[in-house]
Amino acid sequence: MIKLTPPMGWNSWNTFGSEIDEKLIMETADVMAESGLLECGYDYLVIDDCWSLRKRDENYKLVPDPEKFPHGMKYVADYVHSKGLKFGMYSCDGYKTCAGFPSSYQYEFIDAETFASWGVDYLKYDNCYKPVTVPGKLLYHKMGLALENCGRDIMFSACNWGVENVQEWIKETGAHLWRSTGDIHDNWESIKDLTHQQIALQPYNGLGCFNDMDMLVVGMNGKGNVGFGGCTYDEYRTHFALWCLLNSPLMIGCDIRIMTPETKAILMNKELIAINQDPAGRQPCMLMGSKDGPKEQTYVWYKHLEGGDLAIGLFNMSDNPSYPWVGFEQLGVDHTSGKDLKIRDVMNQRDLGIYHDMFSTGLEPHCCKVFRCTLVPADGNYNISFING
Ligand code: GLA
Repeated sequence: MIKLTPPMGWNSWNTFGSEIDEKLIMETADVMAESGLLECGYDYLVIDDCWSLRKRDENYKLVPDPEKFPHGMKYVADYVHSKGLKFGMYSCDGYKTCAGFPSSYQYEFIDAETFASWGVDYLKYDNCYKPVTVPGKLLYHKMGLALENCGRDIMFSACNWGVENVQEWIKETGAHLWRSTGDIHDNWESIKDLTHQQIALQPYNGLGCFNDMDMLVVGMNGKGNVGFGGCTYDEYRTHFALWCLLNSPLMIGCDIRIMTPETKAILMNKELIAINQDPAGRQPCMLMGSKDGPKEQTYVWYKHLEGGDLAIGLFNMSDNPSYPWVGFEQLGVDHTSGKDLKIRDVMNQRDLGIYHDMFSTGLEPHCCKVFRCTLVPADGNYNISFING
């Protein structure tokens, strides 16, 4: 059974590109299991592009590159499974993968069966070298059907970068997540771009089929395949919090064998992860910000969580401090409700007390705050409305 909340895990592409092999994957599996990442929910280990030979075998099957994977893929999958993890792989709906390796166009059913025979639990399905005359919709339907008939539960991760109005048809193909944007880069411009592009696509996001804002760059620190410049830790914090609040899959892209304490703290913030993994899977509503505004705006989103709490995220994407405020009337908690909000700072895991009617706060450039709010009876005891720190 495939879970309905956004997938979490690790993917080889952002840091390693084509430099992948059995040793890297097995070491990464060890770290996922032993560092606390698996306990936080990161359970899919996914090998991206560049894992196969340039030619299929005589039965038209894909062949793992024996120099990179000398024991074959079943061996790797068994090892990954032995660590309590799930195993993911990559293919593409065109003639070749983006890096030029054999791809699944017209081999969809053979490939789905091959992946199942190796013990694959997740397939990322890219969109390079797609025949221009064939609609992407048909090709994703075909692979969706092939996966559903391969005899194994395989999470279907569609990756067509948001083209061909994919939001309008992707759910029907059986995809469990779909890339809603182009490729991420490890720099602040890219975080701003992807967030901004996501606003218009939010209504399509939902339980069982999530908008995928691309793999995380947290902890790459400018190194690796997409490490174009790097981000500060404040920017990585904001990036991670945005992906959590907007229900994006959380696929780590850094080299987890060398995570710094700061990187670990960001990726293992269990209270933020709980907001991402909320079982209700509801979309956030925008209180401040606009798809027509600049990328350098302040966004405020709130999200209903299972059980009645609200998550509120405030994100300053600009280069100057900002001072957003949240009126509780906008949240449906006005004076007729008889309720106040008990607020917890999720980024720093501390209780802030009870607030009445509204709060305002300050945000440094590129920084964010995320609060988890519980409705409590209004009894006249509450804090003044500015949230410091
Ligand atoms: C595309 C995808 C990336 C990655 C590469 C691999 O660019 O969007 O996420 O999978 O292909 O070649």
